[in-house]
Amino acid sequence: MNTSLAKLLRLALYLVVLCGLVPAAHAEGGMSPAALEKARKVNAQCLSCHSPQGLEHPQEGVDVAKLRKVLIDPLALQNADHGKFACTKCHTEGYEDFPHAEDAKDNTSNCSDCHQKKTDIIQAQFDKSVHAKHLADKFSCTTCHDLHVIRVAKNQTDAGKIVAQDNRICLGCHDSDQTFARFAPEKKVRPAIDEIHAWLPNTRLHWSSVRCVECHTPLNKDMLSHEIVDKKKAERNCVTCHSVNSQLNLRLYRYLAKDEQQKYGFLNSVMLGKSYVIGATRNPLLDTLFIGLAALTLLGVLAHGLIRIITTRLRRRKQHD
Ligand code: HEC
Ligand code: HEC
Ligand code: HEC
Ligand code: HEC
Ligand code: HEC
Ligand code: HEC
Ligand code: HEC
Repeated sequence: MNTSLAKLLRLALYLVVLCGLVPAAHAEGGMSPAALEKARKVNAQCLSCHSPQGLEHPQEGVDVAKLRKVLIDPLALQNADHGKFACTKCHTEGYEDFPHAEDAKDNTSNCSDCHQKKTDIIQAQFDKSVHAKHLADKFSCTTCHDLHVIRVAKNQTDAGKIVAQDNRICLGCHDSDQTFARFAPEKKVRPAIDEIHAWLPNTRLHWSSVRCVECHTPLNKDMLSHEIVDKKKAERNCVTCHSVNSQLNLRLYRYLAKDEQQKYGFLNSVMLGKSYVIGATRNPLLDTLFIGLAALTLLGVLAHGLIRIITTRLRRRKQHD
């Protein structure tokens, strides 16, 4: 076999193996089986109180009303990005004993302790967002991110679940008078979410199929921008999503596998059926036909050129003879 071809094959094989291994290591947060086992033991102890089961069978000396407010959902935790860690990796001191130490809360790790580079980038974006500008002292990373639950988009494969999770964050406040009031400046009344977006047909369907951040953040190719922009700059152009080159391919759908993405080609048929947008024609069969034709044409041109080169050479050689 050609040596460079053999090299190429070996590289391909190496890549396949690597791709198989990396997600496995990632899923465990790079922890060894022994470390995982140790973390599980610590967590079982904390969860013996901090879970619905712990509440059902309260241990001696525990204030049930207080405990009710600090429960963790063990099922959600299991699937969360940080679910494999020991609680004490972030709640570093003062929680081993009960009652917990007075100042235990001061010893919770910050995002930047473990994600320095990412946090610097995101913090800068967040500082420009409407929330940081209007509500600086009340808003932080953990206002939106519950570390015992969150499993970010890039670690998921189901568009519906991603949308549900991310919109729950925004709707949890913007669709609840009680929570909104805790954060809003005094006397600011919560604008009803469906009324603000009354120009959008079927808002509730949109809330379940597309994320708030799709329209409320600038496009960023590396990862989601945390700059929630002023409402005047929000996206209201239907064609941004409902077109052949839907921006959603660079946003929500970039997290999905290629064949999954194709499932969402329907976006245009939806629009066509209701004749909202002109120019959103997309028929997979037609596309395939066109690509096929283009390929055949190219092949034809190449073959034609090749034959001409060969025949002129042959003719020249004949003339030499
Ligand atoms: C015996 C039951 C019990 C155990 C075991 C327990 N906790 Fe708690 N924890 C509580 C109760 C009750 C509260 C409610 C507030 C309080 O009384 O301090 C609480 C509060 C907390 C808080 C919130 C503190 C705050 O001020 O908001 C954190 C964080 C916490 N516990 C972490 C842990 C961790 C981590 C572990 C395991 C290392 C653990 N707890 C083990 C009962 C328990
Ligand atoms: C990756 C870091 C991390 C891990 C692991 C972690 N937590 Fe937390 N936890 C946090 C942060 C951050 C907060 C929010 C603190 C704040 O709001 O100031 C928090 C808050 C809490 C609270 C208070 C909740 C409330 O509503 O006030 C409790 C209780 C708690 N954690 C228990 C646990 C238990 C039990 C475990 C293990 C099963 C655990 N945590 C694992 C980072 C973590
Ligand atoms: C004790 C260290 C630690 C702390 C504290 C911590 N993380 Fe993480 N986090 C990790 C590790 C380790 C992973 C998984 C490995 C990886 O992919 O980086 C992770 C994964 C993530 C992910 C999953 C996707 C990604 O970007 O890799 C997000 C999102 C995330 N962390 C956000 C946060 C936020 C927000 C905070 C603060 C509120 C925080 N983390 C605090 C260690 C930590
Ligand atoms: C207004 C709510 C909000 C605040 C505040 C917020 N985030 Fe996020 N963050 C989100 C949403 C929504 C996502 C998208 C989650 C997803 O990927 O599914 C996200 C995603 C992320 C991701 C994953 C990005 C990626 O594409 O891999 C990281 C890491 C992260 N946030 C860290 C932070 C840190 C650090 C802070 C504080 C400086 C912060 N977030 C503050 C809402 C917020
Ligand atoms: C914990 C509550 C809370 C969460 C979570 C939250 N917001 Fe907000 N948001 C507010 C409050 C309060 C205001 C009003 C600020 C003001 O007018 O002073 C606001 C304002 C806004 C505005 C209006 C800005 C303007 O120009 O007037 C937009 C847009 C917005 N939020 C989008 C989002 C999106 C998108 C998310 C989810 C990623 C989100 N918010 C998550 C509380 C929240
Ligand atoms: C299809 C794009 C789109 C989506 C999806 C979207 N928004 Fe908006 N949003 C807008 C536009 C455009 C405006 C400006 C409307 C105006 O000023 O008339 C706006 C305005 C707002 C405002 C400002 C309200 C005010 O008047 O103070 C808030 C808050 C808001 N959106 C929150 C959300 C939340 C939360 C979600 C997710 C549940 C969401 N948006 C989803 C496009 C969108
Ligand atoms: C941020 C991307 C985005 C924007 C902007 C957007 N849409 Fe949508 N729209 C979607 C998605 C995703 C769906 C879900 C399609 C589905 O599940 O059937 C949808 C569904 C629809 C549907 C189908 C509703 C039904 O009953 O089946 C209509 C109609 C629609 N959008 C109209 C509009 C119009 C009109 C605009 C502009 C005013 C608009 N959309 C802006 C993403 C968007």
